[in-house]
Amino acid sequence: MVHTLDIRVEKVAQSRVAEMDFHNIDFARQYADHMFIADYDGNEWHDFRIVPYGNISISPANPAIHYGQSVFEGLKAYKNAAGEVLIFRPHKNFERMNISAERMMMPQLSEEIFMEGMRELINLDRDWVPDVAGTSLYIRPFMFATDEYIGVRPSDTFTFMIITCPVGAYYARPVKVKIEEHYTRAVKGGTGFAKTAGNYAASLYPAHLAQKEGYDQLIWTDGQFHKLIEESGTMNIMFVINNTLITAPVGDTILNGITRDSVLELARDWGMKVEVRPLEVEELIAAIEDNQLQEAFGVGTAATIAHIEVIAYRGHDYPLDLGRRQFSAKVLDALNDIRYGRAEDKFGWNYRV
Ligand code: COI
Repeated sequence: MVHTLDIRVEKVAQSRVAEMDFHNIDFARQYADHMFIADYDGNEWHDFRIVPYGNISISPANPAIHYGQSVFEGLKAYKNAAGEVLIFRPHKNFERMNISAERMMMPQLSEEIFMEGMRELINLDRDWVPDVAGTSLYIRPFMFATDEYIGVRPSDTFTFMIITCPVGAYYARPVKVKIEEHYTRAVKGGTGFAKTAGNYAASLYPAHLAQKEGYDQLIWTDGQFHKLIEESGTMNIMFVINNTLITAPVGDTILNGITRDSVLELARDWGMKVEVRPLEVEELIAAIEDNQLQEAFGVGTAATIAHIEVIAYRGHDYPLDLGRRQFSAKVLDALNDIRYGRAEDKFGWNYRV
């Protein structure tokens, strides 16, 4: 592989990987030995470096802290039986990060910085990619403003970083979700499609209220009338109704999920009927009541495929029959087979490190 980015590497004196128990991973609690950093000086990206993972120093007047000028990505690396490391569809994350950055008045990253920074980092920390079934190395690229200035204006300077951590399942069991009709995640013309910090901060309180009632997550509905199903905050959401896979079209209120795209591609490849269209809450509830809803599941990088066992709407819990989750179980297996290098990667999704 050709290296064109000049990356300075400072290695840890002693790796912490021996402290890891890959059979008992606590989601995102332990971070790998190194991290990648690049700085933007208002003109160009420079000072590419891989250094020991650790705290960073920023000004108390940092605009990312005050105004949330910050974007991030999430992707995963898997280890195949031969011990090779495969990253799942990283170019998609690169593209989406730049879309988020544009919306948040942040500089574009070159493919070279994103991909080479990540490849060098993962290569150095490849022992941190777990090889236990159901586990992977979560990769978190992120960019944030770094000016020392609390006036409200776009920062001139930024930092781009990548950190990684071994992970198992985000949701360890099927989830209970509540359809939200009061709070709003995203509105037309807003930032819903961008992977930006504030979207997640704003979702915490409504999600907390739902969690107090015993649910794991919300199903967000459109901000104007709360009639259309949107997404679930940590994941996109899909349904199988009458053997048809249905999910909302991405637009400016829904994150363009890469797992979502992969599931749609596999379903179409298998000849399944797929409808990417607005789905009304009323239609979903009618489908449940008529016993037409076969499956409901979240799809996301961290969540992978999260089976849904309860949908709550207007104070009523609708339990779903998990015995009917044929498509979501099959697609999870198919995705895993590709990611762990057990099946032919016919779409060219794996990026080998
Ligand atoms: C992901 O799935 O990678 C996410 O970013 C969702 C969440 C953990 C914030």
